Amino acid sequence: MAQEKHTWWKEAVIYQIYPRSFADSNGDGIGDLNGITEHLPYLEKLGIDVIWLSPVYRSPNDDNGYDISDYRDIMTEFGTMEDFDRMLKEAHRHHIRIVMDLVVNHTSDEHAWFIESRKSKDNPYRDYYIWKDPKNGKEPNNWESCFSGSAWQFDEATGQYYLHCFSKKQPDLNWENPKVRDEVFDMMNWWCEKGIDGFRMDVISMISKDPAYPDGPVNDGVYGDLNPYVCNGPHVHEYLEEMNRRVLSKYDIMTVGEAAGVTIDEAKKYANSNESELNMVFHFEHTDGSANSDSIIGKWTYNPPKLSYVRGILNKWQVELEGKAWGSLYWDNHDQPRAVSRFGNDDPKWRVLSAKMVATVLHMQKGTPYVYQGEEIGMTNMHFSSVKDCNDIEEKNAYQQYVVDHHMISSEDMLKCFDAIGRDNARTPMQWNAKEHAGFTTGTPWFTVNPNYKEINTEAALADPDSVFYYYQKLIYLRHTTPIIVYGVFHPLLEDSDCVYAYERTLDRQTLTVACNWTDREVECHVLDGIEGEELISNYTDHKVGVLQPYEARVILH
Ligand code: GLC
Ligand code: CA
Repeated sequence: MAQEKHTWWKEAVIYQIYPRSFADSNGDGIGDLNGITEHLPYLEKLGIDVIWLSPVYRSPNDDNGYDISDYRDIMTEFGTMEDFDRMLKEAHRHHIRIVMDLVVNHTSDEHAWFIESRKSKDNPYRDYYIWKDPKNGKEPNNWESCFSGSAWQFDEATGQYYLHCFSKKQPDLNWENPKVRDEVFDMMNWWCEKGIDGFRMDVISMISKDPAYPDGPVNDGVYGDLNPYVCNGPHVHEYLEEMNRRVLSKYDIMTVGEAAGVTIDEAKKYANSNESELNMVFHFEHTDGSANSDSIIGKWTYNPPKLSYVRGILNKWQVELEGKAWGSLYWDNHDQPRAVSRFGNDDPKWRVLSAKMVATVLHMQKGTPYVYQGEEIGMTNMHFSSVKDCNDIEEKNAYQQYVVDHHMISSEDMLKCFDAIGRDNARTPMQWNAKEHAGFTTGTPWFTVNPNYKEINTEAALADPDSVFYYYQKLIYLRHTTPIIVYGVFHPLLEDSDCVYAYERTLDRQTLTVACNWTDREVECHVLDGIEGEELISNYTDHKVGVLQPYEARVILH
């Protein structure tokens, strides 16, 4: 087989920062850019190569920065452009690259383009967005926004509806208009010239819509599903090739597309080895709430994911992308619950062991791994006892639609779903130490700190050689020093096991064998029997032949 092309982003580990919740430097209760700069030595110690920064642009914060009103300015609460430049320079000095979030499926309704666009039908910016006439006096079709309710908003001034796949303060840009593409590519070039190191592209699979705008299938009995008509649309690959020609190919940067609704076949196009579009994409098959365990309502569930299902999906992506496209690896991010709570076990008895096990399963696979802030110390989900305690617009809108308006689920069950998979779990402030507000701020934090911060925080983790932190540090170090972890071919093992996630990687004459017990019981497992080799990492110091202890993870190179 031809040697796979080696690139820095295939060998890198990415750390995602959600700036609002990372570190507050000035006591206003909101995380900011200077807070990030201050903690660069911590990230250098962890060993990560790249920071993916969730949006820091000017925004009215209807969706915490994913609604941008000026792409060339910094959100007031986060600091200034000087702060940004300093952070970028300091990051580079610490050997850390910075990847920006690129949110160009939509803007804020407070963006200058939209303010113009809604003024009149003949405004030069009208076609920057997607406007449609009413159909029989109602919405142009039955599409449900990803944040509940109709995806169409009526605008009195001109008597038309505009499309918003997310909140009504996030109108969708019209990528069919070449002027929109010019503006976006100019803006991207501007950031690249500043010296940033890449883009994570927000819902980039949604930029080309089905021109027929047909009604969608009605799943939860209220609205129709828009996904089939907005994901992987007719021109998406054309637009990304154009973006690649006009921007990406000119710089030594990395790109990862957030690809809602992506199939493996589509991923092979987005992330093809010729690099004519993007370097890699995120898929959602293993994190889709309703897909990996039985749905309670819509995307919502509180049932735990099953090993067989999660493993089946991850293995399928590993095997099918081999040699064709590069993959990305993640358990959580700012839209997902905490990895240890969802896939491991956040009971204090098992938290550390299972966080390490879950990390091993992911970090020994092929693809570029992503660590979400706090994951490296095993931060856990949060409990919400009332919808009033929630911040996330997705949760609040779902509650309104399913509990208040349509009585389809009890308040108690809806909150149970939020506890299990709500986005707010990932957005509680980073836990730095055992002092007030977990050392996140000296003021009043914008969002509740998880009460377990006295036990779970970076200071405690750094003081404990057996902590989750040092385990992540080692996993990252191993990736940097062991080519088989980056480039080895993946082979699944024990695909019928209900308890063990095991696989091999092979490169040249070497084999890496990975065996992880996904349960809190001791289980029989023979894949490591008789193997002579070097143990690269394990969360136990003593092992037993023929069995894996609760949540035991072992990796052997032979
Ligand atoms: C992506 C982001 C999410 C945001 C949405 C709309 O899914 O990750 O946080 O709400 O796009 O921009
Ligand atoms: Ca601040």
